[in-house]
Amino acid sequence: MLDTSDEWIVTRTGMKRRHIVGPNEATSDLALAAARKTLQHAGLTAADIDCYIVATVTPDYIFPATACIVASKLGAADKPAFDIEIACSGFIYGLTVGASLIRSGVYKRIMLIGAEALSRIVNRNDRATAVLFGDGAGAVLLEASRTDSFLSSELGSDGSQPEVLRVAAGGSRHPLTPAAYEAGEQYIHMEGREVFKFAVTKMIEATDRALEKANLHKRDVDWLIPHQANKRIIDAAAKYLEMPEDKVIINIHEYGNTSAASIPIALSEAVDAGKIKDGDVIVFVGFGGGLSWGAVTWKWAA
Ligand code: ACO
Repeated sequence: MLDTSDEWIVTRTGMKRRHIVGPNEATSDLALAAARKTLQHAGLTAADIDCYIVATVTPDYIFPATACIVASKLGAADKPAFDIEIACSGFIYGLTVGASLIRSGVYKRIMLIGAEALSRIVNRNDRATAVLFGDGAGAVLLEASRTDSFLSSELGSDGSQPEVLRVAAGGSRHPLTPAAYEAGEQYIHMEGREVFKFAVTKMIEATDRALEKANLHKRDVDWLIPHQANKRIIDAAAKYLEMPEDKVIINIHEYGNTSAASIPIALSEAVDAGKIKDGDVIVFVGFGGGLSWGAVTWKWAA
């Protein structure tokens, strides 16, 4: 369909496969599957969870929040539920919000889900974006405990240049008129080179600051779990952070960029593979539309 090649995509991005929702599936369906798996894993029911958060940039609707739909379908219609919409940084922001709600005593258990159906907002005729994005979901259960796992957070944003990475139409500034639709403004537009430079810089800065806030050194980090947007971005940041390849969780070849879902999917696979052990220090780091960025340091406790 496109003037591209497997060789270009693999060497420039590290991506080999992407998973795409079926015609009748939406983000909440993927989120629901991830949430059910997480509940099963934890031996809990939906009613045991105090609050549901979905990080997504592809909600089922502009409103209601996708989290409300997910909580209801799980059978927890009376529970608080809300979305976080900060593009690929969604999971990092969500971890910060969720962990802070628990730390402050508001809730004891929070389900945080990163879920996306980016294939719905990708222009399949735009080779600069069509090859990059995939669909997926991952979830974590945050629970109050005696020892605090949430060591530090460093978040940031810069909204001065929304045109660098956005969906231009469909919001209150540019409603989706027939002219906007004709111009393809309902799709993701990205100035890839600009985002690339910003991504490497901010991943490094955010990680450095999060480590500093937690009084940690690079050598204390057991795992780097970055947002999976481009293998070259991950490699550049890992090199600066002196993280050997076997300490960096990378699954971009299998899923492409799944925005807010990429970090929880990578975490889930690393846990399933038995890589992450109790007490391990993890740095979660991401960046994306906003522009936005963030890093969280976390001490793993299963
Ligand atoms: N196939 C073949 N050629 C292509 C393709 C493609 N799919 N896409 C672009 N090209 C061409 C360009 O047209 C350009 O050609 P030219 O030199 O004749 O002008 C050439 O390849 C190089 O283009 P660049 O944009 O410089 O390529 P680059 O090496 O920067 O890779 C990429 C592009 C993969 C998009 C990279 O810039 C990138 O990963 N950027 C960051 C993306 C990102 O991290 N996004 C995260 C946020 S997403 C969110 O928040 C929802």
